[in-house]
Amino acid sequence: MAIYTILIAPDPRLKIKSELVKEVTDEVRQLMDDMLETMYSAGGIGLAAPQIDVHKRVIVVDVVGNDENPQPVCMVNPEIIEVSEEDLPHDEGCLSLPEYFSEVIRPTSVRVRYLNYENKICELGADGILAVCIQHEIDHLDGILFVDHISSLKRNIILRKLTKSKKHEAIT
Ligand code: NI
Repeated sequence: MAIYTILIAPDPRLKIKSELVKEVTDEVRQLMDDMLETMYSAGGIGLAAPQIDVHKRVIVVDVVGNDENPQPVCMVNPEIIEVSEEDLPHDEGCLSLPEYFSEVIRPTSVRVRYLNYENKICELGADGILAVCIQHEIDHLDGILFVDHISSLKRNIILRKLTKSKKHEAIT
């Protein structure tokens, strides 16, 4: 197991479109284990492989609270096959945009098809925070961040502040 460094926006590597995984091998399982460890250690509820500079279509999520037993879900090549007609706004954050939150409107529930840890094709219906999280992580695989869903004015403010704090870190 290993904890990876999470890329912080703005970073061109976060905009790369990730590639499909041919088969869930031991190497991919190792990646998912490392991603879960990285996500838990950063206190996140979801992580996509491009956030650790691995450009494969792999996401991990666990929306259960800290005090409860972990319920990790690993998805390879996740694909949304159904969305609800109803949309809901939800405050989103991201480990690649630390400390910033913004309201994003997405379908309330989704149905997703993916390869699981055992390389089996699975389907999952999700709503609530799990549906938000899965859609947010799948966006990462296409180089989309939650700030790409908000106004360019708000997005630029957040990205400018992040650039500033990165520069500050580099000189201290
Ligand atoms: Ni994110």
